Amino acid sequence: MRKISVVGVGYVGLVTAACFSDLGNQVIALDIEEQRVAGLKRGELPIYEPGLGEVVQRNVLAGRLNFTTSYKEALADCEFVFICVGTPSSVDGDADMKYVQAAARSIAENMTAPLVVVNKSTVPVGTGDWVAELIKDAQPQPIDFWVVSCPEFLREGEAIGDFMNPHRTVLGSTSREAADKVAQLHLPLRSPIVITDLRTAEMIKYASNAFLATKISFINEIADICESLGADVKEVAAGMGFDPRIGKHFLEAGLGYGGSCFPKDVKALAFMAEEMGHEANILNSVMEVNGLRREMIVDRLKQALGDLKGRSIGLLGLAFKANTDDMRDAPSVDIAKELLAAGAKVRAYDPVAMDVAKDLMPKVEMSKDAYAVADGADAVIVVTEWNEFRNLDLERVRDSMSQPIIFDGRNIYRPELMNTLGFTYHGVGRGYTGKREKNGLKVRP
Ligand code: UDX
Repeated sequence: MRKISVVGVGYVGLVTAACFSDLGNQVIALDIEEQRVAGLKRGELPIYEPGLGEVVQRNVLAGRLNFTTSYKEALADCEFVFICVGTPSSVDGDADMKYVQAAARSIAENMTAPLVVVNKSTVPVGTGDWVAELIKDAQPQPIDFWVVSCPEFLREGEAIGDFMNPHRTVLGSTSREAADKVAQLHLPLRSPIVITDLRTAEMIKYASNAFLATKISFINEIADICESLGADVKEVAAGMGFDPRIGKHFLEAGLGYGGSCFPKDVKALAFMAEEMGHEANILNSVMEVNGLRREMIVDRLKQALGDLKGRSIGLLGLAFKANTDDMRDAPSVDIAKELLAAGAKVRAYDPVAMDVAKDLMPKVEMSKDAYAVADGADAVIVVTEWNEFRNLDLERVRDSMSQPIIFDGRNIYRPELMNTLGFTYHGVGRGYTGKREKNGLKVRP
């Protein structure tokens, strides 16, 4: 059992604190927001994450997990402190480091014994060295400390599983001994552990996320080509995925990536590259292709319906992806904005994100379920791939719509079935119609 303190109780911090306590460590999680901490002490979670509530509750009851707003309390007798604060994007794309800076200063001012400072936030390459300087300068008297970078690779909605079964643990430090100590903490997870220097560890995180984002923009470009050439991108992706050099994951075409990580991290990496005089051609294209996905779906809707003024459009799903209430950089926000600007009336339903979403889109009417969204709609757009939309009573949906037109932004339905049911169905990259000739396409010999 180790004593660990975690700074920041957002997604990363709370999952890290809960899971390390579940592994038998004594954990104290700190946040400067008093309300958040008070809520957690009452058992209220600030975020929606499947399974997290149970892990938190179990460990609070066992006395292994505590919450505080006091650095003094958090750092008392503590061997490790994990920095898990946000690094939002500034307007230019570089990461805003004010929370990391504040955390480093407070750690320096309140530590009383040697400490391993582990950074989990996604931070620009070079931040570990900067944090070390900051702590050294802010310490009232010199006490030994070591900085280790341990980037997180958690997916929202799957965070507990990802923490407990990581594909790898990356540790970067100037001190091999400190990296080994952090490695010890991760041993029960039985994942491969990569030990390297600070900057390389920080870069592994950016390069991984940028590569995944590239895969998504790539398949979205292929989807558009499929659509025009009469091929089906879902089958193309499946066929590609059997090649282990390609892999089957992250080839879902649709509305592009959103959320708290990919948009911010790709932008930040391009910014870092450009600051060093490199043209980030691939990263810039990845971002451009991704940005166009949201316009694409509204353009297609306009092509099908003509003028949207006064039309009633339903949105199924609002969160940036399923199993989360996270609305950060969610495609739904831009799609709703475009539809409203074109004069449409917009109704929406999301199983968990409506509370967060309603302030971001006050002119969108929030509905009680998917059927209420479809009722009287001229078209429905599937924006988030929630499982509950996969098994809707589609005949009921069809009969209640003013026109049975579905834009499936996540390809959750089978085109043949939708057509048989009498929908006018538009998936993404589902150009195959079952006919040899489509839209005047020539059949090649
Ligand atoms: C991501 C990374 O996966 C994780 O390792 C990192 O640490 C944080 O960022 P997350 O943002 O929670 O996690 O979501 P993820 O499931 O990776 O999806 C990211 C975005 O890509 C979502 O908007 C999702 O809809 C989109 N996506 C994903 C696709 O459009 N197609 C795909 O094939 C996969």
